[in-house]
Amino acid sequence: MRTAFISLSFLLAGSLMVPAIAHTPASKKKVATTTQKGKILPMKEYIDQLMAKMTLQEKIGQLNLMVAGDITTGGALNTQVGGDIAKGNMGGVFNIKGLDKIKALQDIAIKNSRLGIPLLVGMDVIHGYETMFPIPLALSCSWDTEAMKKVGEVSAKEASAAGINWTYSPMVDIALDARWGRISEGNGEDPYLSGVMGAALTQGYQGADMRTEEILRADRIMACLKHFALYGAVESGKEYNTVDMSRIRMMNQYLPPYEAVVKAGVGSVMSSFNLIDYTPATANHWMMTDVLRKQWGFKGFVVTDYASIAEILNHGTAKDLKEASEQALLAGTDMDMCSNAFVKHLEQSVAEGKVTEEDINTACRRILEAKYKLGLFSNPYRYCNAKRNKTDIYSAENRQIARDVAAETFVLLKNEGNLLPLKKQGKIALIGPLADTRNNIAGTWSVAQAPEKYTTIKEAMEKALDGKATLLYAQGSNIWRDRELQKNGEQGKSIAWGDEVKMKNEALQIAKEADVIVCAMGETADMSGECASRTNLEMPDVQQELLAELAKTGKPVVLLNFAGRPTVLSWEKEHIPAIMNVWFGGSEVGDALCDVIFGDKVPSGKLTTSMPKTTGQEPLYYNHQNTGRPVPDDNQKFAKFASNCLDVSNGPLYPFGYGLSYTTFEYGDLKLSSHEVNMDDWKITATINVKNTGSRDADEIVQLYIRDMVASISRPVKELKGFQRIHLAAGESREICFDITPEMLKFYNAELKHVIEPGDFQIMVGGNSKEVKTQNLTVKKHP
Ligand code: NOJ
Repeated sequence: MRTAFISLSFLLAGSLMVPAIAHTPASKKKVATTTQKGKILPMKEYIDQLMAKMTLQEKIGQLNLMVAGDITTGGALNTQVGGDIAKGNMGGVFNIKGLDKIKALQDIAIKNSRLGIPLLVGMDVIHGYETMFPIPLALSCSWDTEAMKKVGEVSAKEASAAGINWTYSPMVDIALDARWGRISEGNGEDPYLSGVMGAALTQGYQGADMRTEEILRADRIMACLKHFALYGAVESGKEYNTVDMSRIRMMNQYLPPYEAVVKAGVGSVMSSFNLIDYTPATANHWMMTDVLRKQWGFKGFVVTDYASIAEILNHGTAKDLKEASEQALLAGTDMDMCSNAFVKHLEQSVAEGKVTEEDINTACRRILEAKYKLGLFSNPYRYCNAKRNKTDIYSAENRQIARDVAAETFVLLKNEGNLLPLKKQGKIALIGPLADTRNNIAGTWSVAQAPEKYTTIKEAMEKALDGKATLLYAQGSNIWRDRELQKNGEQGKSIAWGDEVKMKNEALQIAKEADVIVCAMGETADMSGECASRTNLEMPDVQQELLAELAKTGKPVVLLNFAGRPTVLSWEKEHIPAIMNVWFGGSEVGDALCDVIFGDKVPSGKLTTSMPKTTGQEPLYYNHQNTGRPVPDDNQKFAKFASNCLDVSNGPLYPFGYGLSYTTFEYGDLKLSSHEVNMDDWKITATINVKNTGSRDADEIVQLYIRDMVASISRPVKELKGFQRIHLAAGESREICFDITPEMLKFYNAELKHVIEPGDFQIMVGGNSKEVKTQNLTVKKHP
C-alpha cells in the first residue's frame, strides 16, 4: 500500500485547503480528486495513520539526513542519495542549491519510495539566501529586533522559493573569546541580547510558533536553534576544542539565549560538537532531554551537527558506531546528520533490546510532525514554486531591505575631527585588498550566495561619486605576506595575489594625489567562521605596514575594518583618524557603505562584543565577575597582587555597547520611581532624558544594566537587562523609560534555582556599557 501525499494546497480566504489522507496507491488522478475533498486530518490522527503503515526500518529512515551531493536532475535516482530516498532511508537532504535538483529529489521521495513521504530540505541560510545580509555578529550590532525579523522573513522568502524548507539558524552560542572564528555566526557576548535577537530571527523565518499545529505559510521555513549547547566556550577559542563549565555558569550565562529561542517556538534544535560535563552533547541526556524538553518545553526535533554521532567515537565515550547511535537516540537526538549511523544500526539495536521501537517512534513522530507543520503532507511541492523562484529571489525589494539593514550594522569606532561623513568632492583614494572583491563581501556561511550579481565597494563608490568626485583605486597589498596563510583564509574565495612592492607603490602614488584615503582592509570572509580560529587578532602584517605608510603621508585616512570577529585595533586607534568596523555587510554592502560614508545615513551600530587591546586579553567580556582583587579598567598603573596584567591595563579598547554617531547624545540624570521595594510587590520604572545634541537626526541605542551587589553567589559587575533603539531629531530630547521587573533581578543560585534575593542593586542606563548613569535600588524581604 502506498499513501498519496501529492496534492496542491492553496490558501482560500485565509484557510488552508488540504487533502484528506488517502489510503490507496498514489496516482496523479487519484491525488487530484483527493485535493478537492477538503482538509487534511488533524496532525495526531494523520501521523498515527501514517506510522501504522511504516516498517521499523522506514521509521528509522526518517531519522536520516544527508548532504545531497552534486546531482543532475535527470540522474538523481542513480545517485547514492537518490537510491536511499527511494528505499525510504532518508528523512531529508541539505545544502543543495537549485530548484530543479531539489524537485528531482522530492520526486523520488514522492514517486519512488513506498510511502511517498516528502523530504525535509535544509540549508545553512545563515544570513540570507542570494540577497545576503551582514554576518550575524554584525546584525546583532544593529540591536534592531524588527530588522532581525525582516532578515528572517526575507531569507525565508528567498529560500522557500528555491525549494528549501528548513534553515540551520539562528545560532545563539555565547562567545567570549574572539580567537574563535565562529564568534562571527552569533550575537556576541551577552545572553539577553543574543536571546532577543535569536527569537526575532526565528519569528521571521517561521512566522509561526512551531509548538502549535499551525501550518507555516509557504514563504516561511522552519528554523533550527544551534549549537546546543555551549559550543562558543571551546577552550582558547580553538575550534572543536574541549568545553568544561560549571552548571551555574551554563544556567546564568550560556543557556538563556537558547531558552529564549525555544520559547519563541523554534521547530528544531541542533546539538553541538562539544562535550558537556564530559559527555558529547549529542549523547547528553541531561541537556537534550531534561533541560531542553522537560525544563523548557521544547516540542520539536533534535538534529545532530554533521557527523557528531560518529565523532562520539573520537571523544572516547562509545566503542563503536552502533553504541554511539544508541547513546544519541536515548539522550534525545532524533535525526542523524551525515553519520549514517541510525540507518545502519538502530534496527539491530531494537532487536537486541538496547533501544525500543517506542524510542524510534518518538523520534520519527517528531520529524513527521515538522513535515506536517511545513505543509509538506498537504503539498510536498509547496516549496518548489517555479514562479516564485523567478520573482522572489534577489529582488529589488529584498536588496533594498538588505542595504538598509547593513547600514545599521556598521560600528563607528573613531571619528577624529568629524572626518566622516566625506563630501562627494575632490579626489578620494580607495585602497585595500577588500575594496574590489565580489566573493568576500557576504562573509562566512554564504552557501547560496551569487557573487557574480554583487557590487564591490569600488563599483559602488564609483557610482556614488559619478560626476561629483574622482575615485582613485589601488589594491595596495595582499591579505598576508605569506601566500599559504592567505590561502588558509580564502577557501576558494580568492583575493588577487600580487607583487608586494609594486602594489604598495601604486597605493602610495594615488595616496599622494588624493585629498582623502579610504582603506578597505582586514580579514577575508573565511578568516572567521567554522574552523577559522586565530591566535593573533591584529591586522595582518602587510596590510598594517601599508596602513602605516598611508598614515605617514599626512593625508586623512578612513579605515573600513572588515572583520568576522572583534579584532585588535590598538595601533589603528592611535594613528588613524577615522575607523569604522564594517564586518561583512552582505551583498548590498557597497551601496550601504556609500550611504554611510557620504552621510546619507548616520551610523548607529553598537558593539555586541568587547574589542580587546591585545589578543592576550581574550576571553574578554563586560559581564565578568569582580574577583577578590579587582582593578578598575584602564588603571594606568600596574597593581601588584591584584587582578591585572603586567603589560596591558584591564578593560577593552572599545567596550560592549559602544559605537559613535554623526551626532552626539547627552544623557540626563537617571531617576527611579522608587529606591526601595518589597520582594513580592513592586512596580518600578527607571527614567532618563536623552537628548540629540548634534546637528543630524539619528538613532541611539539606550542600554539598561543591573548589578546585584551582594548575593549568595558572586554576580557579574553588570548585566544587560534591556535596551531601546530610539530615533531623535537633531536637538530633540525624550524621556526614556524602562520597567524594572522582578525577572531582571533573577539568577540561578547554587541549587540551580531561579531566584531573586533581597538586597542592594545598582540600576544603570547609558549609551554603552562603560558610560552609564547609576541609581541604587533596595529590595526588602517581605516583613
Ligand atoms: C556544521 C556546522 O557546525 C553547522 O553550523 C552547520 O549547520 C552544519 N555543519 C550543516 O552544514
